[in-house]
Amino acid sequence: MDLSSLRFAHRFDQVSGSAIREIFKIIARPGMISFAGGNPSLAALPDEKVSELSVQVLRDHGKQLLQYGATEGYPPFLESLKQYVETAVGFRPDAVLPVTGSTQAMDLLCKALIDPGDTILVENPSFLGNLQCMKLYQANLVPVASDDDGMDPADLEEKIKAYHPKMVYTIPTFQNPSGRTLSLARREKVAALAAEYGVVIAEDDPYRDLRYRGEMLPSIKSFDREGWVVFLGSFSKIISPGLRVGYLAGREEIIRKCTVGKQSTDVHTANLTQAIVDQFIRQNLLPDHIRTICADYGEKLARMLGHLEDLAGLVTFTRPEGGLFVWAELPEGLNALELLKKAIDQGVAYVPGTHFFVDGGHENTLRLNFSNSTDDQIDRGMSVLKTIFREAK
Ligand SMILES: Cc1ncc(COP(=O)(O)O)c(C=O)c1O
Repeated sequence: MDLSSLRFAHRFDQVSGSAIREIFKIIARPGMISFAGGNPSLAALPDEKVSELSVQVLRDHGKQLLQYGATEGYPPFLESLKQYVETAVGFRPDAVLPVTGSTQAMDLLCKALIDPGDTILVENPSFLGNLQCMKLYQANLVPVASDDDGMDPADLEEKIKAYHPKMVYTIPTFQNPSGRTLSLARREKVAALAAEYGVVIAEDDPYRDLRYRGEMLPSIKSFDREGWVVFLGSFSKIISPGLRVGYLAGREEIIRKCTVGKQSTDVHTANLTQAIVDQFIRQNLLPDHIRTICADYGEKLARMLGHLEDLAGLVTFTRPEGGLFVWAELPEGLNALELLKKAIDQGVAYVPGTHFFVDGGHENTLRLNFSNSTDDQIDRGMSVLKTIFREAK
């Protein structure tokens, strides 16, 4: 029998993923200038330090690291991670769980909380990878309105009352894809709403340290008294995405459920990479490293915004104080999907914004990444895009 009768699980019914996969195939072509991904720059990846730390931890604890470990995490890392969350992120965690990138944190939270048909409130637009994860758990995704200060608490409250969601998913700092940051007052309000209505807030904050201007804001979690907020952290953007180390921090009951869920996913996150991140924390290497990458990314962001200023009056765009993305809106009627074909023909790629919206539309929007391009690539790539956008008008 051929494979035509093969039936995949219904959880894939809402998930295609194909459009973005095509873009990522294209950006792999030699010579392409890519504003499409969310990758750190190659210069930001601390390969020499990681190599040194790998030798050190294998020399000191090789047998333990190469053996199976506990699902709960590599014990020394559990200690340093709790300390790190308290001092660097700014709240005292009840419990933490090291995970295989914060992508897994989202997967485990959904595994712990979401039955098919449960509602999750999401910012619109939002991070594609996690929208896909929620769809795979067959959640009903309901968008909440956002503006320049992030998610609108009035709309959030209305939607909570109307839909009785299990969870709210938010990226409060330098949001992917919009670059927007939830204001201080709204952070406090979101935590209060979670407690008032008994809704879990998944606070996904991988970009908080990538701040190039302005003051760092306290997390939503730091306003949480009852335990409804779960914090999803990641070392991908500040050390390396290839190490695949992130964490969940929150109330013991929730972390425990996620730990049971993780047992059947991957038993545990690699001991070796947990031990490497543990050493980054113990040797206090992060502050200097983050300062260096922020100086570089801040200049790249300013450079890209400078080019976008040339399009003032035609294109509106966010001016984030950090993170990896700028969000741009072309005049109504222009189609960023169509224009991407022209851009690709001239060696430049970006991600059309429509892919980040729960129900599509918004074809005049696009996301631009600046961290993974050189100054020269930003100049050349933006000059191509400026010509295309001006001619399309
Ligand atoms: C908002 C957001 N959350 C989570 C992730 C996933 O990060 P990780 O590499 O830790 O799985 C990303 C990666 O781009 C992201 O943008």
